[in-house]
Amino acid sequence: MAPILQLTGICKRFPGVVALDEVSLAADRGEVVALIGENGAGKSTLMKILGGVHQPDAGQIILAGSAVTIRSVADAVKHGIGFVHQELNNLDNLEIAANLFLGREPLWAGPLRLIDRRAMVEASRPHLERLGLKIDPRTPLRQLSLAQQQLVEIAKALSQNARILVLDEPTSSLTATETERLLATVTDLRGQGVSIIYISHRLGEIGRIADRVVALRDGRNAGELGRGQINHDNMVRLMIGRDLKSFYVPGVGQHHPARLRLQGLRTSAWPSQAVSFDAAGGEILTFAGLVGSGRSELAQAIFGVTPPLDGRISLDGKELTIRGSRDAINAGIYLAPEDRRKTGLVTSMTIRENVTLPGLRDHAPAGLIRRGRESETTDRQIAAMQIRAPSRESRVMNLSGGNQQKVVLGKWLALKPKVLIVDEPTRGIDVGAKAEIYRLLRALADTGVAVIVISSDMEEVLGISDRIAVMREGAIAGILDRSRFSEVAVMNLAFGKAPTNTAASAAATASN
Ligand SMILES: Nc1ncnc2c1ncn2[C@@H]1O[C@H](COP(=O)(O)OP(=O)(O)OP(=O)(O)O)[C@@H](O)[C@H]1O
Ligand SMILES: [Mg+2]
Repeated sequence: MAPILQLTGICKRFPGVVALDEVSLAADRGEVVALIGENGAGKSTLMKILGGVHQPDAGQIILAGSAVTIRSVADAVKHGIGFVHQELNNLDNLEIAANLFLGREPLWAGPLRLIDRRAMVEASRPHLERLGLKIDPRTPLRQLSLAQQQLVEIAKALSQNARILVLDEPTSSLTATETERLLATVTDLRGQGVSIIYISHRLGEIGRIADRVVALRDGRNAGELGRGQINHDNMVRLMIGRDLKSFYVPGVGQHHPARLRLQGLRTSAWPSQAVSFDAAGGEILTFAGLVGSGRSELAQAIFGVTPPLDGRISLDGKELTIRGSRDAINAGIYLAPEDRRKTGLVTSMTIRENVTLPGLRDHAPAGLIRRGRESETTDRQIAAMQIRAPSRESRVMNLSGGNQQKVVLGKWLALKPKVLIVDEPTRGIDVGAKAEIYRLLRALADTGVAVIVISSDMEEVLGISDRIAVMREGAIAGILDRSRFSEVAVMNLAFGKAPTNTAASAAATASN
């Protein structure tokens, strides 16, 4: 029997880039094919061609033995291709049900073709339940966390009866529990004969669910791995063409005085919880915890996005008044936010404009923008972060997802912060670049910066931190020193399991 999907000899060129050069990929019925490759390798582009978003310059799409032309997204849906995109493109103002049924809303009988909202809401429930989403379908999307929005997108694709489901980095914003649920869903769907193309930079999960791995490198096929050959080292070798050593860089272990000190800080998200902690220069302090435990809100309060209700913030012994981000930036405290498209980047602007935006004053003595200095800073960041783009004048929206994330980080690193808070810094970033970002964060800490990382990636949390603060329901449940690091210790604090001695003494340190 012919495979359900064959892509052969696919070529795609964008101005200044050959995104795909004679790429092939096949999938059988009920097969999970993982598509891997470094940032910018062409994974999303290949899938966008299958999904009708882009037209190929050459090559064929063959579904169950017959060649087809997919002219539009609607065409792809008709062919049974479901697609959950890497960058969510939900319509924020819609409620969940309306988003699920967009363009195929159930209608009342009669000539007016009015939408039967109640039918739509009811029809949505089973699709949400299937993914374990216990949310009212009438909830507006903007009230959902990024993780929940991602699950809604998956529910939407499944509700369209997809035979081939493309998941482009579906777990990049999910936490451990949500990831487990998604992986179980993928396994279920495979059992039901759905073919899944799974793009991810989280190699651990690929090892668990993939039947086959297809690797792209610089827009070309770089090789495949069968079931028995799928492991971390083999995948890395195919993707980057060499081995990768020393993933995490340990700190120099020097003790610095506290730089940032929070005392009794309360945020509007958790008004009844007062948070106190110190972050020392030279350390990487990581905040772990479940999605919604208040980590991002805390970061936003320190950065002045949503100023704290009360409490004190001091930097190097001097108390700060932070009424807005401008105050934080002036003090040398920067935040690289979680949702890069909402607050981190202006995607219609170029890399240079984005990298130099927050520091414009440095580049504009007496109000004149010094193009030369801007270009220099930008090129330095492009090289340091290994950002892959045709030039510094490329628009950020045309970069691959991972490269967009590197631009966000580059923009803040260029400013020489005293305190740098990074929220999910390696979401969607490939292994090579991850190692690079860990190295950069460590190097930054070694120069005396207090680096605060918010991360939901357990491996990363345990690997990069000097101390781990675990949040639960708006409060710090405990702070762990390196000697007490373990997945279990973090999870127990995050879930509020009976506090062990470790947790109790850590909580005591936290409130000092
Ligand atoms: N619309 C576009 N216009 C111009 N260039 C584009 C466009 N879309 C993608 N590219 C370029 O094509 C190349 C492949 O990008 P693609 O998004 O497919 O990478 P990817 O493998 O999905 O990477 P990531 O892991 O970062 O998501 C990149 O060089 C990217 O900058
Ligand atoms: Mg991509």
